[in-house]
Amino acid sequence: MTVPLHAERRAGARLSRIVFDADTIARRVRELGEEVTAAYPTGELLVLGLLKGSFIFLADLARSIERPVVVDFMVASSYGSGKASSGNVRLLYDPATDLAGKHVLVVEDIIDTGRTLQRLLTLLAARQPASLAVCALLDKKIAPPIPEVRFTGFECPKAFIVGYGLDYAEKYRHLPFIAELAE
Ligand code: IMP
Ligand code: MG
Repeated sequence: MTVPLHAERRAGARLSRIVFDADTIARRVRELGEEVTAAYPTGELLVLGLLKGSFIFLADLARSIERPVVVDFMVASSYGSGKASSGNVRLLYDPATDLAGKHVLVVEDIIDTGRTLQRLLTLLAARQPASLAVCALLDKKIAPPIPEVRFTGFECPKAFIVGYGLDYAEKYRHLPFIAELAE
């Protein structure tokens, strides 16, 4: 897909390609919402977004779930401002909501090494939710499969990508598409 000029203007950077355009993302997120809706036939769902990367995905996904939903967030930090996973996961903000007895759906932007998620799932499972599952928009398929990841939007290239919530040094989160930066 050639990169339109307006996309690079919006980013303020050269892009080597657009990986998923806005329409493709919207279609898949609606489908994910249907999958989640079907997987929880009764009861309330606690949708727990991992900030900051999931904020746009969560906003779209939550509106596609046709069930009673409560939204909360948690903040973990693993990357600093670089492009490589440090493996050092820090929890900066804990969800205010009590997880005990709740159906918890963790919403994650992208699974790279899977370390962030593994660490968080261990923490969350200890709080005895009724069920614990993950909906990830993107998976680089580098990590060994994580059983809790029941919903995945797209398998994505093993490259560093930005947009639709994903950043590089806090930039590019606002892009409505997902793209690879030019070197
Ligand atoms: P992991 O612990 O290596 O799986 O890293 C997961 C987190 O790193 C994600 O939640 C993202 O915030 C960030 N991340 C991983 N890959 C990318 C990428 O390609 N672009 C932007 N952020 C990424
Ligand atoms: Mg990040």
